[in-house]
Amino acid sequence: MRHLLSAADLSREEAVQLLDVAEQMVGTQQREIKKLPALRGRTVVNLFFEDSTRTRISFEAAAKRLSADVITFSAKGSSVSKGESLKDTALTLEAMGADAVVVRHPASGAPHRLARAGWTRSAVLNAGDGTHEHPTQALLDAFTLRRHLVGGGGPATGADLAGLRVGIVGDVLHSRVARSDVLLLHTLGAQVTLVAPPTLLPVGVESWPCRVSYDLDAALEGLDAVMALRVQLERMDAAFFPSAREYSRRYGLDARRLALLPEHAVLLHPGPMNRGLEITAEAADGARSRIVEQVSNGVAVRMAALYLLLAGEDA
Ligand code: NCD
Repeated sequence: MRHLLSAADLSREEAVQLLDVAEQMVGTQQREIKKLPALRGRTVVNLFFEDSTRTRISFEAAAKRLSADVITFSAKGSSVSKGESLKDTALTLEAMGADAVVVRHPASGAPHRLARAGWTRSAVLNAGDGTHEHPTQALLDAFTLRRHLVGGGGPATGADLAGLRVGIVGDVLHSRVARSDVLLLHTLGAQVTLVAPPTLLPVGVESWPCRVSYDLDAALEGLDAVMALRVQLERMDAAFFPSAREYSRRYGLDARRLALLPEHAVLLHPGPMNRGLEITAEAADGARSRIVEQVSNGVAVRMAALYLLLAGEDA
């Protein structure tokens, strides 16, 4: 693996290996001294052209825990706001000797362009591009599901997610998380159902490796996990649903709906949450919620990705 651009780049074996390495990283994070020397002398550049809290901090923590030098660059306050192109930014980073570039960009495909146009020799990690993909989020979701639902008396056994049933609910149209999750969870053997109003489903969703439903209550029955997606108001240029109240009534996750799930089922959300819209506070903070744990698992998964991309060969 040279870059991590899409969840579709990962074979089942590569994805399982990444989750296994992440599991080892969790072990190291429970020690008093969390830092590992694996990437000493390497430079990781975080290039964020779009707002982010969790993903940016998570990649930064992951690179630092592996002893890499980390440069975080956000477009605001940089020459990008003076009109500098992605190409010129990439050439600048190249000249500074970056070994890995973590990119978040509002344009779908920007990290692919960076990796494939020959502007940089660094490993490129996609940290979310437009409405397209967010592979490390999918990995941390898969990792969280595996930790709770596979082995140890959970509904599945084995190394992947075979046999698990996962529902992903909400604004699929604007969500790069949904696409990456569907691709990766399918690769890992899970059966995914997308639940959304027809206006919030992308054209071509029929060809995704998943089922689609418009009826949340009916879809919930028998799911091992359900993930709420954020309603991405900032990407909406039209009315995609009649009112916030109507949306919550039909597609919001609340205590009543969670009670329809089997005992072992867990609740995920990639964050940031619109509490009261796609998820109630009671559900978000309730016993089934693994939302805070997703954030800590994100660090372990990103450590694993950086490690395998940068030190994998000599490991
Ligand atoms: C997601 C993103 O930015 O795509 N958040 C994240 O990375 N944790 C989802 C979202 O913004 O709703």
